[in-house]
Amino acid sequence: MVSSRPAEPPRPTRVLISEAEIRARVEEIGQDLARDYANENPVMVGVLKGALVFVADLIRATTIDVTMDFMALSSYGGETRSSGVVKVTSDLSLPIEDRHVLLVEDIIDTGRTVSYLKRNLETRHPKSVRLCSLLDKIERREVEVEIDYLGFTIPNVFVVGYGLDYAGLYRNLPYIATLEPS
Ligand code: PRP
Repeated sequence: MVSSRPAEPPRPTRVLISEAEIRARVEEIGQDLARDYANENPVMVGVLKGALVFVADLIRATTIDVTMDFMALSSYGGETRSSGVVKVTSDLSLPIEDRHVLLVEDIIDTGRTVSYLKRNLETRHPKSVRLCSLLDKIERREVEVEIDYLGFTIPNVFVVGYGLDYAGLYRNLPYIATLEPS
């Protein structure tokens, strides 16, 4: 079923990070992961939905054995996810006890979602939990988060593309763009 969409959604007009820039940076991160996790077979945990595209490219940019899994989240009681009050709507399909875990996000904004997720994963006794994010909107940070692998720092502007959406739209753009009001 096709869900309803805004009649006049704002359009992505200005490319902030091009497809080529993303590809080059993802390759570099893939090489960093191969160096840091050689022979460790880490579990890459993508946070749905935004991280889907990044995870798909990242696993192909690294030469080591990786295991892929996903988590999906929603907010409690109409709060935004940025409140950090989140509910796991789809959990990992695999145990992570004694495994190295790499949490993969598309963007860190306030830091609350990832801070919650890291605590959640730590309770399952993994060997380690590190964080990889394509984007960091650092001006918006409210809780301290250590990002171990970062694609790009961006200014405090609304961005879409490469997995990121506006009202469900634009996740399929191969670049990161800013939105122009309609
Ligand atoms: C985005 C992003 C992070 C979170 C970051 O998800 O993927 O999970 O927000 O925000 P925070 O640092 O302020 O907590 P979103 O709620 O847009 O869901 P989606 O991935 O399904 O698009």
